[in-house]
Amino acid sequence: MSAVAKILRGRTLSFHAEPTGPEDTAAYSYREDGAILIREGRITAHGAYSDIVREAPEAEVVDHRPHLLMPGFIDLHLHFPQVQVVASWGEQLLDWLNTYTFPAEVQFADPAHAERMARGFFDLILGHGTTTAVAFCSVHPTSADAYFAEAARRNMRMIGGKVMMDRNAPEGLTDTAQRGYDETKALIERWHGKGRGSYAISPRFAITSTPAQLEAAGALVAEHPDAYVQTHLSENRDEIDFTLSLYPDAPDYLGIYERYGLVSDKTLLGHAIHLEPREIELLTATGGKPVFCPTSNLFLGSGLFDDAGLRANGILNGIATDIGAGTSYSMLQTLNEGYKILQLQNQKLHPLRAFHWITRGNAEVLGQVDQIGTLDVGTEADIVVLNAKATPAMALRAEAATSLSQELFILQMLGDDRAVAETYVAGEAMKPRS
Ligand code: GUN
Ligand code: ZN
Repeated sequence: MSAVAKILRGRTLSFHAEPTGPEDTAAYSYREDGAILIREGRITAHGAYSDIVREAPEAEVVDHRPHLLMPGFIDLHLHFPQVQVVASWGEQLLDWLNTYTFPAEVQFADPAHAERMARGFFDLILGHGTTTAVAFCSVHPTSADAYFAEAARRNMRMIGGKVMMDRNAPEGLTDTAQRGYDETKALIERWHGKGRGSYAISPRFAITSTPAQLEAAGALVAEHPDAYVQTHLSENRDEIDFTLSLYPDAPDYLGIYERYGLVSDKTLLGHAIHLEPREIELLTATGGKPVFCPTSNLFLGSGLFDDAGLRANGILNGIATDIGAGTSYSMLQTLNEGYKILQLQNQKLHPLRAFHWITRGNAEVLGQVDQIGTLDVGTEADIVVLNAKATPAMALRAEAATSLSQELFILQMLGDDRAVAETYVAGEAMKPRS
């Protein structure tokens, strides 16, 4: 980490709260000639360039004008061992898992394969402006080791865990209740709270865990209350029917996780599309966090996430790519498809709320707003530099944009990795160059 002070100059945008609408200017700070002062990986000042440069005349200045500087994007749900599963044709969830996904994950028993895929995975997310992500690794501890080691090498604030799965999966892709417990425990000791890493206890979903394994996962949660929990919930109708047939005494799908002590405000629940009223009440009561995965839900034909319905019940939602059922590493493209899913339900996603969601909003879901997701003083200098004129189509469209909201909407609908001019991790420029 550089000890030299650095100033990033450009147009700066950071949120203080979720904007209630386009007129809610109190929810964010936007500066036409802004600057961020970085010392030892943290933001030590953020304001008008003229003020910041006076405060630190010795600092190196990196001039990103006319681009937009924002907090790095946060992706709350994706699968590191699925980088070679993206764009696999023709199936819905359960057949997609059996046909494409499980065979790809088996290969992560090989540490050399896991390490090579980890390098590719981190290059990709950084290339798309994502500086924090929450990932499922494969069942093999080697995959979690490769993931956390690569994150540490790049000094990134990453969360993840090996999936626990002890049934309904091929040989080579299962642990047992005891082994899943032991391996998870060892990984928590190895990686949780090391550098910028945090562990997520990761029972994959109820279909691939016996009751004994979910009980073991619950024991881990009780023993490590500061670790996250991640799993999948109510993504697909056939999945729900199969799940309930495996747990016939459960009141509903979420009731299975509830019974084993897996649902709290540190629990991230991928998809959460087809929910019963009792499950919604339980999410409100526990603070469990649904995570919307738009490109995946469209790709697998899973269904339409009811953002407004959940929010009306006081439930805080995250948003994520869900690589490799998701089809883009870009949180911008994720917002694009999310916008359309909400349109199909006559719900609106204003660009100010959208950019809050993939920065401060997802940080709030993680309970980490004091570290990431804003340009606030004292937080870690994870920053993305965005160019709303990155492609010919964007440049031509941007000529007719007359407001910040319009520029953001162009990025939201047309942007991808080409719109990411640079990605900073703890103050260091980290976008891979080919
Ligand atoms: N449910 C259980 N595992 C998975 C997975 O890998 N991807 C998706 N989309 N859903 C799942
Ligand atoms: Zn998933």
